Amino acid sequence: MVLVGAGLVSCELGPAWKAAGHDILHVISRKASSAQPLAQRLGCPWSTGWTEAAGALADAEVVVVAVTDGLIEELAEGMSAMVSPSCVMVHLSGATPLEVLRSPGAVVWPVRSFNPKAGSVPLIGTPTVVEGTDQRALDVAHVLAAAWNADLVEASGDQRAAAHLAAVIADNYANHMLAEAQEVLRQRGLPKTLIRNLIEGLTQGGLHGDARERQTGPAKRGDEATLERHRALLSDDMKALYDMLAAHIAQRHHP
Ligand SMILES: NC(=O)c1ccc[n+]([C@@H]2O[C@H](COP(=O)([O-])OP(=O)(O)OC[C@H]3O[C@@H](n4cnc5c(N)ncnc54)[C@H](OP(=O)(O)O)[C@@H]3O)[C@@H](O)[C@H]2O)c1
Repeated sequence: MVLVGAGLVSCELGPAWKAAGHDILHVISRKASSAQPLAQRLGCPWSTGWTEAAGALADAEVVVVAVTDGLIEELAEGMSAMVSPSCVMVHLSGATPLEVLRSPGAVVWPVRSFNPKAGSVPLIGTPTVVEGTDQRALDVAHVLAAAWNADLVEASGDQRAAAHLAAVIADNYANHMLAEAQEVLRQRGLPKTLIRNLIEGLTQGGLHGDARERQTGPAKRGDEATLERHRALLSDDMKALYDMLAAHIAQRHHP
């Protein structure tokens, strides 16, 4: 395997692949300060250029393109003449179509944040979406995800795009709401952790898949008096968002 990109994901999956017995031939990244430490951990050569990686790319059965989404297509295309025709090109992105890779190609998308700021959730057992241009590529995706004993989901490109949307709504948008709630507390001199037990309860809906059944609150109850009191406390930009969400909750629960 050749690893292209030595960022957050490579630094966690590279060692997992090595521990699972994969032979990592080379790490290529843009900066030496990223490539070198990862290559050192993996005990393999590294480079910041393609020429030094030519031998490894020609020998590789798998090339993992673990770079910023916007660069996957360009880098994969640039490498295609350097790898053998049977080499499976793999990317790890939830949002990027499989078609940006030439065939055989595969996607292995661990549905997890690798950003240390998001907190440390164990890699082992991570739900992982896989897709392949053919059966062999899909088999390679399965083998790669087995390194973290993934909870595997085979999906079409459309299904993966929808899964990425769901992940963004659930993670990024829910976190934004949490940050806004903490801001309301901070502005009134209250501890931002005042709502911590509620948040523990909230995550249960995500863990058990029954968030809709767990919905509570004034918008669901149609409690206009409380909604009005809240509006009086909100900044104008948050008021618009609050009203939109309250209307959406009411519509879902009382169509
Ligand atoms: N972050 C997450 O939570 C997460 C979760 C699931 C999937 N993914 C997917 O995993 C992939 C990698 O994401 P990431 O978070 O690891 O990204 P990242 O931390 O931003 O790392 C990207 C890496 O790409 C390297 N790179 C940029 N331009 C390059 C070039 N021209 N040639 C070679 N290397 C280059 C960077 O190099 P330098 O460091 O050397 O500058 C960096 O090491 C993405 O497709 C992403 O969608 C991410």
